[in-house]
Amino acid sequence: MTPQANPSNPRRDPAETIEDWQQSFDAFLADQLTDSTGAPGKLLESMRYSALAGGKRMRPMLVYASGLALGVERERLHAISAAIELIHTYSLIHDDLPAMDDDDLRRGRATNHRRFDEATAILAGDALQALAFEVLAADTELSRNPASQVQIIRDIAWACGAEGMAGGQVLDLAAIDQKISLDDLETMHRMKTGALIRVSATAPGHLALAGAELIERLGHYGECVGLAFQIHDDVLDVTASSHQTGKPARADAARNKPAFPSVMGLEASRDRAAELCREAIDTLSGFSGDTGMLRWLAEYAIHRQS
Ligand code: IPE
Ligand code: IPE
Ligand code: MG
Ligand code: MG
Ligand code: MG
Repeated sequence: MTPQANPSNPRRDPAETIEDWQQSFDAFLADQLTDSTGAPGKLLESMRYSALAGGKRMRPMLVYASGLALGVERERLHAISAAIELIHTYSLIHDDLPAMDDDDLRRGRATNHRRFDEATAILAGDALQALAFEVLAADTELSRNPASQVQIIRDIAWACGAEGMAGGQVLDLAAIDQKISLDDLETMHRMKTGALIRVSATAPGHLALAGAELIERLGHYGECVGLAFQIHDDVLDVTASSHQTGKPARADAARNKPAFPSVMGLEASRDRAAELCREAIDTLSGFSGDTGMLRWLAEYAIHRQS
């Protein structure tokens, strides 16, 4: 990485840009979880344990990439990125609980309830979600325009709520031991994973006061990338090692969960993810801003090895 390089320079290696963005994102996130808060020590430790354990930071990177396409400076987007990643981290902690996927490994370390205990893991998830909305409400950049701030908060709440992530997780658990149609599987994936990825692409549009048509196009891009991302997650579940992904291998089959490879086959799953990636990239054509990083992230969603 070249520290002097301009992160918005499209000629720079995208992987270097991502590394740079990840570093500044991680510093901002850590600042939201310092022990200057009045939180009980064990709870804060549990929140930090999962939130600061790495992870690809795909959603924050999408926020910045969307901002780049819209001409919004990255510093103005930290609160949106952090809020979405805090919610994502909470969803992973709860996803791993015995009542849900009952997994022992996440981001290459013991899952939160294994390292602490179930009650602490549930409460750490609750507190991370609450912190996300506090960060959004308290951000001075966002509060310059209260109408767009409220719209962003509302969109993020929708994405993680009953019609988004939480609803999708309910459908996911109801599908155990069931045969489900491809349409139902897609709906479940769009809700449980796609909705938060979609809002990562659209929220910067509200901050930039972009028009409805532009925000809708970013939304379509995000929907395609979000579904492709979860299809590839299902593919990695059967093709990648636990060492690569930092989570248990073949976990879907072990719990008899319908996933893309089991419903449509491995090759067809890869093809569907590639088709969605192309559709996402096509959606960006005619965009006047710098869409290089959005294109790169669409490809990354389906070619990543972890
Ligand atoms: C895992 O998300 C759960 C899904 C929604 C597929 P990520 O693959 O983004 O996990 P991290 O954040 O990199 O750990
Ligand atoms: C999780 O889907 C989606 C969430 C909302 C957390 P998975 O259950 O497939 O995610 P992993 O494979 O455990 O990361
Ligand atoms: Mg799950
Ligand atoms: Mg899981
Ligand atoms: Mg999975």
